[in-house]
Amino acid sequence: MSTLHVMDHPLIIHKLSLIRDTKTGSKEFRELVKEIAMLMCYEATRELPMKEVEIETPICTTKTKVIAGKRLALIPILRAGLGMVDGMLSLIPSARVGHIGLYRDPETFKPVEYYCKLPKDIEKREVIVLDPMLATGGSASAAISFLKERGAVNIKLMCLIGAPEGIEVLQKEHPDVDIYIGAVDEKLNDHKYIVPGLGDAGDRIFGTK
Ligand code: PRP
Ligand code: URA
Repeated sequence: MSTLHVMDHPLIIHKLSLIRDTKTGSKEFRELVKEIAMLMCYEATRELPMKEVEIETPICTTKTKVIAGKRLALIPILRAGLGMVDGMLSLIPSARVGHIGLYRDPETFKPVEYYCKLPKDIEKREVIVLDPMLATGGSASAAISFLKERGAVNIKLMCLIGAPEGIEVLQKEHPDVDIYIGAVDEKLNDHKYIVPGLGDAGDRIFGTK
């Protein structure tokens, strides 16, 4: 069974409260999504392997540690996942970025794929899938299946807000994928929106509707 990491840092909880607020406009919403992704990046990279190196400080030679060349790939699910990419890249500038385009059919709520472009050595990389919302889990689960079909083996999922239903689906269909989530909300409504949630993440980031 995968591990569910629920964020408990006051900065993350505070910023999530701000993006939930319907009065928060697109500019501030985008800035906050970027900041939350950056804070969550810190948690999701906690277990990256380190190696010892020798360096010279202005005072002496010393042994210290650096990240052991682990190659990362960030995979935002279009559109809303795009809002999380810059925050992640500001801490891991060498990460490659692939894109998976999916939308949720408004009638069936099933994910429909329309775009996929991945780094060519995806099988060698530690992959972090980015999407602010984990509602039914259909989109994230389908994106992870596409990644596995294309060779990815080491995958994490990072979301800002999730519903218990989506988490259950993810853990059942991809028990090897650890989930990093800002908050676990109460439930889904009849339109499969997260309650209380934040509404439509893509529309709020891009100002569409
Ligand atoms: C939203 C969200 C997720 C998906 C979550 O995207 O960004 O990708 O819904 O729902 P699910 O867990 O029930 O699949 P949407 O389909 O609205 O597309 P968009 O990002 O292009 O607006
Ligand atoms: N997609 C969103 O953007 N928000 C939800 O609450 C559910 C799916």
